[in-house]
Amino acid sequence: MKNQEVFVTPQELARQREFTERIAKLNDEYTARYGRRRSAFVDCYGCQQNEADAECMRGMLREMGYEPAKDEQDADVVLLNTCAVREHAEMRVLGNVGALSHCKKARPDMIIGVGGCMTQQTAMAEKLKKSFPYVDIVFGTHALWRLPELIYQKLTFGRRVFDVEDEDGRIAEGLPVQRKDYIRGWVSVMYGCNNFCSYCIVPYVRGRERSRRPEDILNEVRGLIEKGCREINLLGQNVNSYGHGTDYAMDFPDLLRAVAQLPGDFIVRFMTSHPKDATRKLIDTMADCEKIAPQLHLPVQSGSDRILKEMNRRYTAAQYLELIDYARARIPNIAFTSDIIVGFPGETLEDFEQTLALVERVRYHALFTFLYSPRGGTPAASMPDDTPHEEKQRRFERLCQVQNAISEQIHAACVGQTCRVLCESKSRFDAFPVAARTDTGRVVYLAADPKEIGTFCRAHIVRASPWALFGEKVED
Ligand code: 5AD
Ligand code: SF4
Repeated sequence: MKNQEVFVTPQELARQREFTERIAKLNDEYTARYGRRRSAFVDCYGCQQNEADAECMRGMLREMGYEPAKDEQDADVVLLNTCAVREHAEMRVLGNVGALSHCKKARPDMIIGVGGCMTQQTAMAEKLKKSFPYVDIVFGTHALWRLPELIYQKLTFGRRVFDVEDEDGRIAEGLPVQRKDYIRGWVSVMYGCNNFCSYCIVPYVRGRERSRRPEDILNEVRGLIEKGCREINLLGQNVNSYGHGTDYAMDFPDLLRAVAQLPGDFIVRFMTSHPKDATRKLIDTMADCEKIAPQLHLPVQSGSDRILKEMNRRYTAAQYLELIDYARARIPNIAFTSDIIVGFPGETLEDFEQTLALVERVRYHALFTFLYSPRGGTPAASMPDDTPHEEKQRRFERLCQVQNAISEQIHAACVGQTCRVLCESKSRFDAFPVAARTDTGRVVYLAADPKEIGTFCRAHIVRASPWALFGEKVED
């Protein structure tokens, strides 16, 4: 695909805005007749990218005249934005779609839509069609921007609507976004993935890599900062491929630097970085720019070269560690986090112990650990896998124990220190009513006035657990 073909055209977007206006009119008529405004609820599963898509869905629904509902129980439109990365996530979605049948019986006029990564798989789209006849709209990840048209069709013709074409996804700029708050902003810089790690469904459901234009990204970030955002999160399945296959003058480190150079008081984070594409230039940029968080999410997946090869990850444990060492030398207070899959087909105890050794060597601040989940259509799903589930579970628990001990030690070493935090939201602890985050990305429950939420302040750390820190606000 040539770069200009990657964008949804202004004409196509204008057509969707017409559908939005027509729906808004229908909803106004409904309000005038029944004295209540129709409402909508978007339920989201999975990664930050999905959350960003859900914010777009909420934005589009708002412009169609739906007010936000607090849950699915009394919403007129319920959309589920699904995740396909592991079977567990899919089972949860199917369970929740099943539960909606009662709402639909009680209120046949409600519209139920299922979108996101699950629906982009043909077999799953068929299942939703056949086994869940009360689901009105099924829309794939690539159809997100056509949501107004799909809802309009359902509202006016009453038929079920399916839009799960296997197309090369495109970028739709300027869609409305309904954000939770203006403290932390999520900004997609690229979509899709070309890596085809052998266990992963993402390249099949999210399509090929495509990068937004630097000026569109920078304008969005500027807008967020003007609205008071203090944390900018740049998102992509593999942010370090930003700009590949385009004639943009910027690669990801250049973009990161440009974002960090915008005026204002904010911190920049980004995810996810594939180790094969994370360069010394990226690390140097992080070291140079004060506003870039000293934090790197660098999924390693396994510490065994044999398994990494079977996973099609295209780096060795030694190459990975070299990058870690370089980053630590350039940014001494850097915090690393990672994703690890336990029980990949053919993983031996020795392979697993190499993973443990790597975890001990890196000393991650936190890990996201997953039991391998076969995904239909991926190469790994047809690899022989003779390790019993109980053995995989044992390995998983061992890994969690090792990591918890490391996180506990790292956190314990913070007690007595004072650091900058961003106050993000209310917490569930009465004595520490504010949930905040250090520049390195650690959660701090803070004894501070909730009116500090949305500001940076200094925290004196008084207590630690493996998962979080507890602190008191102190003056500069
Ligand atoms: N099984 C288990 N974990 C998976 N991930 C991706 N695919 C699978 C799978 N089939 C994990 C990887 C990835 C994270 C987002 O999800 O660790 O980095
Ligand atoms: Fe999946 Fe690998 Fe792409 Fe990440 S880089 S989304 S694990 S294929």
